[in-house]
Amino acid sequence: MKMMDVRSDTVTVPTEEMRKAMAECPVGDDVYGDDPTVNELERTAAEILGKEAALFFPSGTQCNQAAIMSWTNRGNEIIVSDMAHIYEHEVGAVAVLSGANMRTLHFKDGIPDCGQIERAIRGEDIHCPETALICLENALANGRAVPVENMRQIYEMAGRHGIPVHMDGARCFNAAVALKVDVKEITQYVDSVSCCLSKGLCAPIGSVLAGKKELIAKARKNRKLLGGGMRQAGVLAAPGLIAIREMPKRLHFDHENARYLAEGLNKIPGIHCEKDAVQINMVFFRIDREEEIRKGLPSWLLQRGIKTNPEDGGLFRMVTNAGVEREDIDVILELLKEYLA
Ligand SMILES: Cc1ncc(COP(=O)(O)O)c(C=O)c1O
Repeated sequence: MKMMDVRSDTVTVPTEEMRKAMAECPVGDDVYGDDPTVNELERTAAEILGKEAALFFPSGTQCNQAAIMSWTNRGNEIIVSDMAHIYEHEVGAVAVLSGANMRTLHFKDGIPDCGQIERAIRGEDIHCPETALICLENALANGRAVPVENMRQIYEMAGRHGIPVHMDGARCFNAAVALKVDVKEITQYVDSVSCCLSKGLCAPIGSVLAGKKELIAKARKNRKLLGGGMRQAGVLAAPGLIAIREMPKRLHFDHENARYLAEGLNKIPGIHCEKDAVQINMVFFRIDREEEIRKGLPSWLLQRGIKTNPEDGGLFRMVTNAGVEREDIDVILELLKEYLA
C-alpha cells in the first residue's frame, strides 16, 4: 500500500540529486569558517534573499531565536502576532533565551495591520519595556500570504520609529509563489528573514537567516551559544543549495494541488473549506459531523495509507507537498466521501 503524508510539508524527503550532492560535496570545519559548501550556501542564500549576508542553521526555530537574541536586550519587548510560530510553537523561547516580553496582537485572518502595530509601540515611559523588534511571518501558518503592500507599510512605519523588522519566512518562497513576485520583493521590507530549506523545498534539515553583515555576525555568536555551531556541515548545506536554487520552481504544483483538494472537499456533503484562504500548500476544513466521527477520521485514513493530523481547534489541516501527486488527492477525496457517507 502506498503511504501518503499530508500532515505537513516538513515530511518531505531529500531528492536523489540532493543525496548525491551530500555524498560528493567538499566539507571543512564550519566553526572555523572552513566548509566551502556551507560558505557557498550562505553566499547563495544572501543573494537570493537580497541581503548582505546569511547564516546556516540546523532548524527554523533556532534561526528565529538567534535572530531575536541578536536584535534584543533582556527586558525589551517584541511585537508578534498571536498566531505566529514564534509565539505559539517555539516553546516560549523568546522569554527563556532573549529574556524579552512578547506583545501579541490579534490580526484579522492573521494579516498584520500597520496601524495596530504602530499603536502597540511603546513610548518613553519609566514603567514600560522598550519595543525592540517587530516580528512578521510570511507565508502565514493559516495558509495565507501577506500582501507586499502590508509589508511595505509596516517596514516604513517601523523605520520611522527606529525599530527593526524580522520575518519568519519559513515558507517565504511559498509566499512569493502565491503573491506572484520574486522573493526579494517581500524580503526588501524586512531587516532579517529566516527561511526553511527543509519544508516544501525538500532539504533534509536546515534554515538560513539573512540580513546585514553586522546582524549575521551577532547571530553567528548566538548560534554558537545555542549549540548550533556545526563542523563538517557541508553534507547538510549541499542539499540546502539545491533546495534554495531549484525547489522554489516546483512549489506551484503544491499550491495547485491544494486548491484542487479544497474544491473537491467542498463537493463532499458535511465538509466546508474556505477556498479563498487556500493561498499556499495548506488546506483547512471543517467537518460538520459528531465528535466521534471527527475523532475517528485520522486512524481510519491511516489504515488506508494516509497520514493526517487530528482536528485542532475545530479544523482539520492537510498540507500538499512533493510526496503528494494529483492522483493521490483524488484518492483522499474518494476516501473522505466513503467515510462520511
Ligand atoms: C512558520 C514556521 N516557522 C518556523 C518553523 C520552525 O521550523 P523548525 O521545525 O525547523 O524548527 C516552522 C515549522 O513548522 C514554521 O511552520
